[in-house]
Amino acid sequence: MILETAQIETERLILRPHVMEDLEPLYHLTAHPDVYRFDPGYRRSYEQTRDILIFRIGEYRRHGMGRMAVVERATGELVGYAGLQLCLYEMPGMNVPAVEFFYGLRRDRWGCGYITEAGHALIDHGFRVLRLPRIISTADKRNTPSINVMRRVGMTISDHALDPDTWVCGVIENPYLRGSTDFSG
Ligand SMILES: CC(C)(COP(=O)(O)OP(=O)(O)OC[C@H]1O[C@@H](n2cnc3c(N)ncnc32)[C@H](O)[C@@H]1OP(=O)(O)O)[C@@H](O)C(=O)NCCC(=O)NCCS
Repeated sequence: MILETAQIETERLILRPHVMEDLEPLYHLTAHPDVYRFDPGYRRSYEQTRDILIFRIGEYRRHGMGRMAVVERATGELVGYAGLQLCLYEMPGMNVPAVEFFYGLRRDRWGCGYITEAGHALIDHGFRVLRLPRIISTADKRNTPSINVMRRVGMTISDHALDPDTWVCGVIENPYLRGSTDFSG
């Protein structure tokens, strides 16, 4: 069973699934050196941005969750991306399936609290509607704005299990869950 999320609305933002028309604004948004500095660490070409967008659209359709466009209500412009993505959290000796809160914002919108606002809404959705047991984020230790976002949405930050010198991991547990994770029911 997949719980489809049409869109999530907050005071200043609309989060909606990506569409191909997002390509142009996404390409320009992610071309800023401050935005690509830690992820992916280089400037993506138009074709690479298109391929990722196609992948993210498909991922969202398959899972009923994934990366979404962050649209500013005041202007109707796409000013960022944020979402809950399936990932493998790498640990020494094993990889653990996890759901990651992931985000990026157009450079001229940094400092307004937009991603914190989006993050609160996404985590609330992840816990109440998707009933996820926990949500994580990872960041380069030098990526202070990203680590600050993790803190503001309520995550506990610690060194990353695989590469504690380079990365941190943020974790927030679902406070509403009552059930067991025993799959046998
Ligand atoms: C990570 C990233 C989205 C953070 O952007 P940001 O603007 O700092 O984060 P927010 O949108 O949550 O805004 C928080 C800032 O707005 C300020 N702010 C203003 N109004 C606010 C409000 N109503 N609510 C919360 N914060 C507010 C906060 O004080 C904070 O500024 P400060 O860090 O100078 O104190 C941005 O740096 C980015 O896009 N980086 C590139 C992509 C990236 O690295 N992504 C993470 C991969 S791990």
